[in-house]
Amino acid sequence: MCGIAGYVGDEQARGIIIDGLKRLEYRGYDSAGIAVAGGGGLQIRKAVGRIDNLEKLIAEEPVKGSTGIGHTRWATHGEPTWANAHPHTDQEGGIAVVHNGIIENYAEIRAWLKEEHGVEFRSETDTEVIAQLIGLMYKGDLLEAVFEAVSKLRGAYAIGAVCAGEPDRIVAVRNDAPLIVGLGENCNFLASDIPAMLKYCRSIYFIENSETVLITKDDVTIFNAKREEVKRDIYHVTMDADAAEKGGHDHFMIKEIYEQPQGIMKTIERRMDGGGRIKLDGIKLGKGELGAIDRVYIVACGTAYHAGLVGKYAIERFAGIPVEVDIASEFRYRSPFVNKKTLFICISQSGETLDTLMALREAKKRGARVLSIVNVVGSSVARESDDVFYTWAGPEIAVASTKAFTTQMMCLYLLALYMAGETGALDSGRFQSLMDELKQVPEKISEILAREDEIEKIAKRIYKKENIFFIGRGLDASVAFEGALKLKEISYIHAFAIAAGELKHGTIALIDMDTLVIALASQDALNEKIISNIKEVKARGAEVISLVKDGNAKIAGESDDTIYIPACMDEVAPIMAIVPLQLLAYHIAKLRGCDIDKPKNLAKSVTVE
Ligand code: F6R
Repeated sequence: MCGIAGYVGDEQARGIIIDGLKRLEYRGYDSAGIAVAGGGGLQIRKAVGRIDNLEKLIAEEPVKGSTGIGHTRWATHGEPTWANAHPHTDQEGGIAVVHNGIIENYAEIRAWLKEEHGVEFRSETDTEVIAQLIGLMYKGDLLEAVFEAVSKLRGAYAIGAVCAGEPDRIVAVRNDAPLIVGLGENCNFLASDIPAMLKYCRSIYFIENSETVLITKDDVTIFNAKREEVKRDIYHVTMDADAAEKGGHDHFMIKEIYEQPQGIMKTIERRMDGGGRIKLDGIKLGKGELGAIDRVYIVACGTAYHAGLVGKYAIERFAGIPVEVDIASEFRYRSPFVNKKTLFICISQSGETLDTLMALREAKKRGARVLSIVNVVGSSVARESDDVFYTWAGPEIAVASTKAFTTQMMCLYLLALYMAGETGALDSGRFQSLMDELKQVPEKISEILAREDEIEKIAKRIYKKENIFFIGRGLDASVAFEGALKLKEISYIHAFAIAAGELKHGTIALIDMDTLVIALASQDALNEKIISNIKEVKARGAEVISLVKDGNAKIAGESDDTIYIPACMDEVAPIMAIVPLQLLAYHIAKLRGCDIDKPKNLAKSVTVE
């Protein structure tokens, strides 16, 4: 969480840093701040709320200088107040620090600094501890002081520091939180994510764990934990800068919903050869490798976890290999049956989710081979995996994940079919019909998008509801979980998803005439079963909106309203069924006046445990 942007060069730093922070606002946005080192020492400006507030403040109280660091915050330690906003300074105010992540031993260090050194703290944050520690260690060399201070820290962090006495440099450190350095002409940049610097440069260094970097306008020097200089290859970013803009849409979320056909097409295109076979980007997963594994373990968080539920179904059904799916934050704290016979699949849009990254490391420690499904090229999960199967969704900016979800599912279908091809678990006719079905997905999603008006109409009728249930069976249950998550995260309506057959085991007690139930019924094979569940809730007075394939008059006849998706095979229906639910959540949130791209309490990339 949180975003860092820094600049050192010949220009005024403030505008460049503010611009970078705006592009990172999706990482956190409850306060923002900037520290600029210039002729008159350090100048710091901080404001609660969005970056616009900081920009206004700087217009009223300008800062001057060509070296600086900035931060947009997603609160972890302490409320989103001015005092807790970054940058934080040391006792003398000569050193300023911005920080993403969490310092686990901050309480101990804080107590030690207070008791032994009489340090007076001005905020409740763990970040101030870093600034104070660097200040205490500072003997005229910022780099040395940062080395010393960092050796006392435990946790996950990316840190940027500037110093009044050395106004020509930024020192930064990475440990389990993303950090990159951009290489410009007569200038260099620091950031937590690529979009912050795309406007200014396309050549970057990824900073690795336990590395410290000294950045001046002409030089970038990277040091390992032993303080030895290390060489790093330059990575050239090909990402389209425009792709990170709204392109005429009101919100990133709706733009990204509309980008799904194209993203899925890209994800498929590179993986299907002309001869009807699947190519796995050079990943070695043939008969031999598959024969050596006895299970697949899929681990992810949130939306990516829901994709994992669909992946379990596909791999078990198509390839006949047993699959466990786990929430990453739970995985590490049990004793999972993961060993060298496990294929461990991590799913992550950002590739920076700390829970997922930690689960990945645990799996590697236990000897598993790690294959990740990731959207952000070069992200931590991607770099630490044995193999990467990229979703080609393009940058996802809205906090609510949409195109990442559908492309993740597509990757899992491709993987499952590939495995089936190798294990011979599917006959060739069924293999071919599934392949043909997958190729039609982008077009069918375009058809669903063309029906947006119908969804908007339903949204207008129901947007004031405060309680919505999502029910479904089999694959529809996974879509129900994701549909409910989309709705609650952006509209703040209480939404509850449950496998429809579970209703009668307790939850049905909540159903009455004020309840709205969205019944997912895309699984022809389970039609009769879901009809019984619809009848159960209707008998208790609930209003039912069903989601069915075109032509399913039977379920439509049992419902108060119906959402249609194009006819398709049951197995691939989730990738289509989620799209109207994304649109529904979007329109409901819009009608309720919510801040769709930046929902409260959320950040795009969750780099804390
Ligand atoms: C919901 C959402 C989150 C993420 C989750 C994992 O819309 O975006 O639930 O799916 O935080 O993030 P990644 O995929 O980046 O690991």
